[in-house]
Amino acid sequence: MPTAITMLGIETSCDETAAAVVRRHPDGDVEILSNIIYSQHEEHAGYGGVVPELAARSHLELADGIVSRALMDAGMANRLALDGVAATAGPGLIGGVMVGMMTAKAVALAHDIPFIPINHLEGHALSVLLTENLAFPYLLLLISGGHTQLLHVNGVGQYSRIGTTIDDAVGEAFDKTAKLLGLGQPGGPYLEDAAQTGDANRFPLPRPLRGRTTCDFSFSGLKTAVRMQAEKHLPLTQRDRADLAASFQTAAAQHLAIKTKRAMDQTKSGRLVLAGGVAANQTVRNTLSEQAESEGWRLIVPPAKYCTDNGAMIALAGAERVFCVGVPDQRSALQLGPRARWPLDDNPRGVRYGSGKKGPKT
Ligand code: KG4
Ligand code: ZN
Repeated sequence: MPTAITMLGIETSCDETAAAVVRRHPDGDVEILSNIIYSQHEEHAGYGGVVPELAARSHLELADGIVSRALMDAGMANRLALDGVAATAGPGLIGGVMVGMMTAKAVALAHDIPFIPINHLEGHALSVLLTENLAFPYLLLLISGGHTQLLHVNGVGQYSRIGTTIDDAVGEAFDKTAKLLGLGQPGGPYLEDAAQTGDANRFPLPRPLRGRTTCDFSFSGLKTAVRMQAEKHLPLTQRDRADLAASFQTAAAQHLAIKTKRAMDQTKSGRLVLAGGVAANQTVRNTLSEQAESEGWRLIVPPAKYCTDNGAMIALAGAERVFCVGVPDQRSALQLGPRARWPLDDNPRGVRYGSGKKGPKT
């Protein structure tokens, strides 16, 4: 009879230093015992994007303290009742990933518990299970700062990618457009805020790759179209900024919806899941929700704090792996190094790009 699995999870692949303790029960119910996130946004604010060296140094300074707090909040200050420790092993910024893995391996060795390396994308792919006891399979729209993908999630470790971006990730497009409009970084939440009072119909923007039957995305043309519209109206007023932000946000959400509809037409799973930082965006949620409803599908989106990077999704992915696949061989797990690139599906359908790498924004 399997018992509950309690897992510490560590996430350091970009600019969040995060740790959490999660308990996964045999029936699939999940308790989140702690969830600590430190965002390094202020450290990178003056550079227009995440600076890998700064991020790695900051993770190094913070990781031990964040892990201690996560254990304390989970009531494990005196006795470590863990079945394992999971950490993001890639894809991501190599210095940060190295810090997270090193921290996790040290905890594992000191307490004689297994170390479980996790693909960051698998963390996002399973993040919905933190708050919803959902059966496989489901269709996943993974929308973050480094990735924009459509995947069939058939089970733990069983992912088939049916679409990806051919250029920028959607979060990257939000960030670059926000920068163009003189808004704060990371741009997604600032752009959403600015768009609230804007007219989404004022500026005609393209819906990329509309005529193509594939499930692939493209965001660089959309970003350029916003720049060209902005250049026609210099100097931009507050109203211009709001209208450009709203027009971009709606175009991006509709592009995501159009390509997701193509994927929905290919499968009968009836369950659509959103994950990744951009899934926190209300216009994206509403657009996908209307589409799911009109198709008779169920849309499930994790709460915003589990969409953006967090340790709980890494802890849960570790627990799910142990539960469904078993504890990985420790000799190879402990020898494993960080991976800058690591696709979830080695043989994806269609295009092979979609780098899995996130660097400083230009
Ligand atoms: O999943 P995530 O935290 O990190 C990656 O794995 O990349 O996603 C970060 C991305 C950033 O590009 C950020 O601007 C975007 O998610 N984001 C949003 C919102 N909140 C975060 N984009 C649009 N609207 C939001 N509310
Ligand atoms: Zn992420």
